[in-house]
Amino acid sequence: MKFFIDTANLDQIREAQDLGILDGVTTNPSLMAKEGIKGDENILNHYKTICKIVDGDVSAEVIATDYDGMIKEGEELAALHEQIVVKVPVTKNGIKAIKYLSGKDIRTNCTLIFSQGQALLAAKAGATYVSPFIGRLDDTSTDGVDLIYKIVDMFNNYGIETQVLAASIRHTMHIIQCADAGADVATCPLNAILGLLNHPLTDKGLEQFMADYNKLNS
Ligand code: G3P
Repeated sequence: MKFFIDTANLDQIREAQDLGILDGVTTNPSLMAKEGIKGDENILNHYKTICKIVDGDVSAEVIATDYDGMIKEGEELAALHEQIVVKVPVTKNGIKAIKYLSGKDIRTNCTLIFSQGQALLAAKAGATYVSPFIGRLDDTSTDGVDLIYKIVDMFNNYGIETQVLAASIRHTMHIIQCADAGADVATCPLNAILGLLNHPLTDKGLEQFMADYNKLNS
């Protein structure tokens, strides 16, 4: 499973990149706003900066909701850097835009996926990734991870190459559950990734190793 970080925060992106396990970055307008990035030029420059920090795919979301606006923005974003993947919401215009962009060999990430039907349409249109939002489904008393299992199975049934990118991951256990479900990618907050390291027996074992070493060597 590939690990993406779900943030526009440069310090967190650098920290994940320094760990050596980062495969890419996803952003969205809310995450950009959280970092105070405003104005088209600043937003585009921020994407370019992220591309310099990481080696992998960087999802950049279109703001337009009409078809012409989506493809215009999508082409502009894709021209920014070869690592950019154009993120498009799963609306009627979004599906048409994904079809157009994929026909131009522009990679896309279809976002705001909450059902198998949406994922299937996005894949048919040629999306590189589909992004089911598991945390937001959990928020509505619906099992988000179950949707990952179902989409992975459905894509496997037909040999569909669109990658399942589990998004809206809120905690470490979501990452493990997505790996069990066969997600191709999990895009995670940094603290959820770092949480994978935690185990009290590791801390206790290391403490013991150090104590035993120090007994003989100090
Ligand atoms: O990857 C999508 C993500 O940014 C949304 O997460 O926690 O706002 O549902 P959340």
